[in-house]
Amino acid sequence: MKVAIVLGTRPEIIKMSPIIRELEEKNMEFFILHTGQHYSYNLDQVFFEQLKLPQPKYNLRVGSGTHAEETGKMMIGIERVLFDEKPDIVLVEGDTNTVLAGALASVKVGVTLGHVEAGLRSFDRSMPEEINRIVADHVSDILFAPTEVAKRNLLREGISEEKIHVTGNTIVDAVYQNLKLAEAVNIPFGDDDYFLVTVHRQENTDNPMRLRNIIEGLKLVREYFNMPIIYPIHPRTLKKIKEYGIDVERLNLIEPLDYLSFLKLESKAKLIFTDSGGVQEEACILRVPCVTLRYNTERPETLEVGANVLAGTEPKEILEKAKIMIDAKRDWRNPFGDGKAANRIINIISRGEYRQFK
Ligand code: UD1
Ligand code: UDP
Repeated sequence: MKVAIVLGTRPEIIKMSPIIRELEEKNMEFFILHTGQHYSYNLDQVFFEQLKLPQPKYNLRVGSGTHAEETGKMMIGIERVLFDEKPDIVLVEGDTNTVLAGALASVKVGVTLGHVEAGLRSFDRSMPEEINRIVADHVSDILFAPTEVAKRNLLREGISEEKIHVTGNTIVDAVYQNLKLAEAVNIPFGDDDYFLVTVHRQENTDNPMRLRNIIEGLKLVREYFNMPIIYPIHPRTLKKIKEYGIDVERLNLIEPLDYLSFLKLESKAKLIFTDSGGVQEEACILRVPCVTLRYNTERPETLEVGANVLAGTEPKEILEKAKIMIDAKRDWRNPFGDGKAANRIINIISRGEYRQFK
């Protein structure tokens, strides 16, 4: 059996890494197709090096563009590779434009498609990620739902139960596999107390009022707690901050970090403020309270266990939620699995059960 791993962005590289390890350990035939959606060293290559992943056999180098430009270019390139390589199954992970392109290109040429991290829903169709997830889930032959909540979302949309497997989320595997290594890494601010921030979502960065409010809220938090705020900033957000002329002087902006440094920063933070999906999950797994700078989340499990709250983007609300979460009792259970998701996924694929549903 030949497996094609299609990926293109930072979170896909990280969340696919346990699956790639598993394929290597089981000596299975596979190759990596990188769309090139992310291409800056610190959003891409650094993770291949640090996580010791094999280099992609193909890199389409599509780069940045509008949604249609990115997705269209990727589909054309992916289709070509699928014609040449004829894999038995394509795996995509998550909800990016790479996933949308990988999913559509695969099913159109009749290659079996597996969606890792299937069934997440924010129920907000103005988010590009929500559209990507829905399309990928509905065209997939085999769906790896991280939790029962995700499985229920899929069943509600009429996807047949036989195609769905609850496996846990591979982010738990990635955290468990790397946390020990991360502990040895030197990070900015060493043993001092600090808050950690990431913000990069389209609905926050492309709306000047929202981005201004978020930064204002973070400054309020900084003043109230008198604690530094470390913000490894996504290039998308940095570009917008400059474009809108937002003052970020009181915040400690740094370049995006490698995985081990970021994991260590997360694990030692007093609070995490984010609009990232993966960071909400990691905060929950690491038992660091999280304040989500959004009005919804496709990770409701984090809210249910008490690890996360939705603050939205109003400055005062951000501060109020920080005051609540700083006292959170860090004893919640991790709802995302036991760190063996990749093993389950590869075992299911190896058994070839999905074939009967094609
Ligand atoms: C994408 C995903 C988002 C995911 C995020 C992970 C979509 C629709 N969005 O958002 O779901 O959470 O990746 O980080 O797929 N840029 C660089 N260097 C890079 C890549 C991007 O500088 O390597 C800058 C460019 O200015 C680019 C902008 O970031 O225009 C946006 O990049 P894009 O890949 O379109 O979306 P992300 O915001 O990264
Ligand atoms: N991450 C990282 N360095 C950083 C910021 C994030 O390694 O400077 C990792 C983080 O640990 C998580 C993933 O990137 O595993 C999340 O990616 P991102 O926030 O870009 O995307 P999302 O999860 O929102 O799709």
